[in-house]
Amino acid sequence: MLEFKHNEGWAITIATDHRTVSALVADVIAEQVAATPNIVWSLPTGSTPIPLFDILAARAAREEIDFRNVVFFSLDDYLGLHPSDPNSLSGWLQREFLNRVNVQPANVHLIPADDPIPGEAARHYDADLTRCGGFDLVVLGIGENGHIAFNEPGSEASTRTRVVEMTPETREQAAGYWNDQFRMPGQAMTIGMANILEARQIVLLVTGSVKATVLAEALTGDISHHVPASILRLAGARLHIFADASAASQLNLN
Ligand code: F6R
Repeated sequence: MLEFKHNEGWAITIATDHRTVSALVADVIAEQVAATPNIVWSLPTGSTPIPLFDILAARAAREEIDFRNVVFFSLDDYLGLHPSDPNSLSGWLQREFLNRVNVQPANVHLIPADDPIPGEAARHYDADLTRCGGFDLVVLGIGENGHIAFNEPGSEASTRTRVVEMTPETREQAAGYWNDQFRMPGQAMTIGMANILEARQIVLLVTGSVKATVLAEALTGDISHHVPASILRLAGARLHIFADASAASQLNLN
């Protein structure tokens, strides 16, 4: 395991493989929940967090982590999809994680991507998050194009929860999960970069060689809306990146 602290304040921990680095992120979550049982937090969807979900669910089953009082806000979903839709990210998150642990349904806020007035619903979701005190801990994945949640390239640091256009790259990345690709919406609802930057702690989990180029760009290139993940560096010491060796293979940190 390798730990590095950058002079911008953020830290990166590199571990051998996906499972090992996921266990380290699970440790961070367990520590936070033990210290503050009612933390406001979030997890990403996608392939990256799957081992993390398994580790957290196993620890919860052994009563090592008690999620009873945590407050959960989801990050993003395809526009127009109800959680009961098989392609909904919120529905997937419920099946893959939330329903496997003792998170209380009343404490779960799912992004209202299926609301008939999405712009207004997004503003209410943002206001709800603010009312709950904002994120204590936000755990994120990164897209191959540098997106964070569905904040695609071009997303500014000031953005808040809103409806966004998905890029062709993101739609392609997501297509593998869709039974019927032609039904995939071109838009999504996502929390914004500002919601993330205001978090007291930001954890970015990055695994696999397919993310090596974008991780190097995000951490060693300019801080720019062209690579939204680079904007996370503005959080300084509140940002901790956890990468496996494959994802970190193109990093040259000095
Ligand atoms: C999903 C999300 C996305 C993913 C990213 C990586 O809720 O917010 O930003 O984290 O697209 O996805 P995977 O892990 O499938 O490579």
